[in-house]
Amino acid sequence: MATGQKLHPKEPARLELARIPTPVVELKNVARQIGIQRLLVKRDDQTGFELSGNKIRKLEYILADAVASGADALVTHGGFQSNHCRATAAAGASLGLRVRLLLRCPDPHPADDGNLFLDRLFGADVTIHHPDEYNGRRTEMIETAMEAERRAGHRPYFFPVGASIPLGCWGYIRCVAELIEQIGRDTPLAIYCAVSSVGTYTGLSIGRTLLGCRNWRIRGVPVSDSVQILNADIRNLERQTNERFDLGLREADTPIDLIDGFIGEGYAIPYPDEVETIRSVARSEGMLLDPVYTGKAMTGMLATICNGDLRPGETPVFIHTGGAFGLMARRDLFGQS
Ligand SMILES: Cc1ncc(COP(=O)(O)O)c(C=O)c1O
Repeated sequence: MATGQKLHPKEPARLELARIPTPVVELKNVARQIGIQRLLVKRDDQTGFELSGNKIRKLEYILADAVASGADALVTHGGFQSNHCRATAAAGASLGLRVRLLLRCPDPHPADDGNLFLDRLFGADVTIHHPDEYNGRRTEMIETAMEAERRAGHRPYFFPVGASIPLGCWGYIRCVAELIEQIGRDTPLAIYCAVSSVGTYTGLSIGRTLLGCRNWRIRGVPVSDSVQILNADIRNLERQTNERFDLGLREADTPIDLIDGFIGEGYAIPYPDEVETIRSVARSEGMLLDPVYTGKAMTGMLATICNGDLRPGETPVFIHTGGAFGLMARRDLFGQS
């Protein structure tokens, strides 16, 4: 499939921002360590250096809509080390759009490191919001930012945390199309990914059904909220996407399959097994994971496979959703070793 080619009649307009298709590589050493024949990784951490990770796939569709609507400023929000906000800042810079980021942090002056450092380097206008305001008065917080943009003569376009809205889901429907070309629609796959704002999982799950990959299982590893909450969020986003694009999906066609037990104490709070996974994968494969998303997802996938998760003939595929800049902000986790 050429990058400019439409993957489905209902696919909306897209800007070509990401370096896709991303490669699929084999982790031979990790596979040997856990006693399986083959372990594949879809390297979505390589969607472009500044844009790296899963968010840029979603932004290709959302920013196409923003540009088509005549917007000249982007407003979005996330945690102070948000990969989504950093990718928005970089993409906005490349498109000549203003970017205003509303970031959640209990410390009014967080260290200028990792993604936060890059947000500012890309020229985004950053404001830090205490979790009480961010969680409790989010609508007002966003409306105040939008109004400030309008008063300054801009035409702002808003999209929420993680770009997990129906337009954004197309990013991971497209990822399914790439996997079909790279591995084959009929190859039985168990696909694992981190789940937080749920756009990645929902896109993969819709893509699996829409593009006819009946032999694939999509398994999500929650990294922020409980299985119950994320189940509901996935169903909700799936329903909205189905309705907005008239996809004709039925709930029974898109089973939700989340793996419990790998969040640790909460979002962005790493735990020892996870730190060990990050270190071990770095040393045996030369591949970076991050402490917020992919470290937990990889830990969950490996433990689940070791507990006999794979069905006969099934190949596991890890969707590496990026996050390396967040790793740089957590050097403290790794001590001197
Ligand atoms: C590196 C990384 N991996 C995974 C995720 C989770 O994806 P989603 O928010 O689409 O569930 C995110 C964002 O939240 C992320 O930044």
